[in-house]
This record gives sequence, C-alpha cells and structure tokens, in this order.
Amino acid sequence: MDFSTAADLRRRLEDTGYLGDDALATVAWLAHRLDRPLLLEGEPGTGKTALAEALAEAGGVPLIRLQCHEGIDASQALYDWDFPRQILHLRAVETVGAVGGATALEDVEASLFDERFLLARPVLRALREAPAVLLVDEIDRADDEFEAFLLEVLSTWQVSIPELGTIKAETPPLVVLTSNRTREVHDALKRRCLYHWLEHPSLERELAIVRTRAPEVPKELAEQVVRAVHAIRADAELIKPPGVAETLDWARALHELGTRELDTASVAATLGVAVKYREDGARVRASLDRLMAR
Ligand SMILES: Nc1ncnc2c1ncn2[C@@H]1O[C@H](COP(=O)(O)OP(=O)(O)OP(=O)(O)O)[C@@H](O)[C@H]1O
Ligand SMILES: [Mg+2]
Repeated sequence: MDFSTAADLRRRLEDTGYLGDDALATVAWLAHRLDRPLLLEGEPGTGKTALAEALAEAGGVPLIRLQCHEGIDASQALYDWDFPRQILHLRAVETVGAVGGATALEDVEASLFDERFLLARPVLRALREAPAVLLVDEIDRADDEFEAFLLEVLSTWQVSIPELGTIKAETPPLVVLTSNRTREVHDALKRRCLYHWLEHPSLERELAIVRTRAPEVPKELAEQVVRAVHAIRADAELIKPPGVAETLDWARALHELGTRELDTASVAATLGVAVKYREDGARVRASLDRLMAR
C-alpha cells in the first residue's frame, strides 16, 4: 500500500468507484502516512464503510472487518481457542495411548495451545497480515471496556497471548473506525485518531456517484433522482434523511420500472425505496407538489 500524495490517493479511490473530496482524501492519506487510525463519523449512508473498502481495494491489500455490536468483547476481536478441536486432539492422544508421567502430561497440555487451535479474529489477523486495512465498523455500538481494549492495541500495535507470546505488527494496518454517533466515542480514543465528519455529498458529486455506481440509469433520470433526494434531505424535520445508498437504490428501482421521467405518480409509488419511516413518508407526500416544482 503506497499512496504518494493525497491527490494520488483520491485518484486511486476514484478508480475503485469511490468519489471523495479533497478534505477526505487528505485526512485518509495522513492516517496512512502517520500510522494513525482514522475515525469517521457522519449520517448513515454517507460512505464511511465504503471508504474502508475502497482504501483496501486501491491499496491492493486485504480488508479485515470487525463489526462491533453490543456486548462485543476482546475474544471476539482478538482470538479464541478452538475448543471442539482441542477436545478431539485430546481424544486422539488418548487413543494412541501416550505414555504417562509428569512430562507427558505437560507436553499434552502445551500441545493444546498450539497455533493449530488458535482462531484468529479480525484485530489479530490485521496485526499479522498487515499491510491491510482494518475496518472497525460502528464502534459506538461497543461498550467502554471494548473501547479501552482497542485503544491499547491501536497504540502499541501488539497483543500478547499468554500461551503463545507477543504478536507485533511489522507494519501497522491502516485502521478505519466508523461511528453513527449513537454515543460519543471517548476522548482518549479520539486523541489517538485523526477525525473526519462525512457530510452528504454535494449534488454534483452525488450525481457522479450514481453515474459511476449505477451506469445503467440514464443521465436525465439520475439527475432528477439526485435533485429529488436533495430536496427531501433539505427537510430538517425528517427522522432519517435518505443516504447515498437510498439514492442509488431509488435510481435503480425507477430504472427497473422503466421510468424515464420522475413525476408525482412515480415518486409516490416508489418512495419506500428512499424513505424508510412512516412519518417521513407522510411529510414527503404532503409536500410532493412543491418538491416536484423544484
Ligand atoms: N463517496 C462515495 N463514492 C461512491 N459510492 C459511495 C460514496 N458514498 C457512499 N457511497 C455508496 O453508498 C452506499 C452506502 O455507503 P456506506 O454503506 O459506506 O455508508 P455508511 O456511512 O457506512 O452508512 P451506515 O452509517 O449506515 O453504515 C454504498 O453502496 C456506497 O458504495
Ligand atoms: Mg457503515
């Protein structure tokens, strides 16, 4: 993974179909150069997860994903021992009738914590397989203890496994953390990271994204869909404004239905592709005439 400048990174992200702006390319490039994790926050569907995927693709390195959830703990992030296989191993040892005695017992016990029985989880894999991109997705769903654990790994780039010793990354992986801000990430972790807030893309960029990701949709229809989405997003009262994912889905859905021109009827019929709350749907329907006039 080698990006010579932020502009180079931006171009190579574009080659994978990810269209970011200069600010995003710069902060991602700095994270890569300074070996610092990148913390991305922003509304749903603004391309946080997709950036990590694009970085891995552009850099030609594996993407290793850790999906956070409530109650996630270090063993799910680091490693586990393969208990069923350890048991089978013990049975096998019994069957061949290993000779008794203290040394033999110690040998058998030691053989249980062999590399063969280690289940490497994403963080351990990232340390071993680096250069790689490690995506720690939706860190806000994990709890404080997990964050503290992560902070330690991200500061030292090493973990210690009592039975095996210390494992240190030769080159640190590029770490992308994402958060939807259901809770605030702690300052200690933030201090370690570079930070970027992802906005919904501008009209021009979103149109370019649709043209790249859904090239089958005719330009005129794509333009109308993007305009409609921007008009819908402008309503600050919405529970969940549509993200880029919804724009793409909507454009594809309308195209699938053979729609050439977005009109009141086609919007009303397909609104559920873009707007996923009953209250939001009602608000959009109520202002449909005004929306279409724009
Ligand atoms: N800048 C972009 N360039 C190209 N595609 C994009 C861009 N931003 C978003 N997308 C597309 O929009 C979709 C949603 O993006 P993504 O899943 O990364 O959003 P997210 O911010 O992770 O959302 P969530 O918070 O819901 O997880 C993806 O299909 C992605 O390919
Ligand atoms: Mg995501």
